[in-house]
Amino acid sequence: MSVKLAREFVGTLVIAIALLSAGACSKPGPQTAESKAVATGGKLYAANCASCHNPTNPNLPGSVGPPIAGASPDLIADRVLHRSYPPGYKPKRNTHLMKEMPWLAPNIGDLAAFLAYGAKNDSAGASSEANK
Ligand code: HEC
Repeated sequence: MSVKLAREFVGTLVIAIALLSAGACSKPGPQTAESKAVATGGKLYAANCASCHNPTNPNLPGSVGPPIAGASPDLIADRVLHRSYPPGYKPKRNTHLMKEMPWLAPNIGDLAAFLAYGAKNDSAGASSEANK
């Protein structure tokens, strides 16, 4: 192998490894963490929220609760942990039917991930209307 060919070969190899490892690191990492949070949030939603909020599509109203797809982590934390709202937030309802669920404190991020995912993947196409 000439020196020039050898350099080209090494150069190609370096690029190939860089591409491979970039693919390996950047793709599954964050996606896996996010889809894990969405899955955990979905289970918690089914167990703790779906009796009042819509059990199949959080973009739609439930039996007593309003649509909550896309709710921010702050809103979820205030509502679920303290029965309050973030400063300046205009609630969808003026009732106070929802109770505190302090055991969900470690999982606010999971619930937010699930509700964000629900807003992005709205099969009923309701989010634009329901969440105004
Ligand atoms: C007992 C029924 C009930 C359960 C269970 C319940 N909610 Fe609610 N939720 C409501 C009702 C009703 C409202 C409207 C305000 C009120 O009356 O408390 C509401 C309001 C909200 C809001 C504010 C919506 C807005 O934009 O004004 C959020 C966010 C929310 N719920 C999230 C949740 C989450 C997350 C869970 C599960 C961890 C949950 N709720 C469980 C009934 C419920």
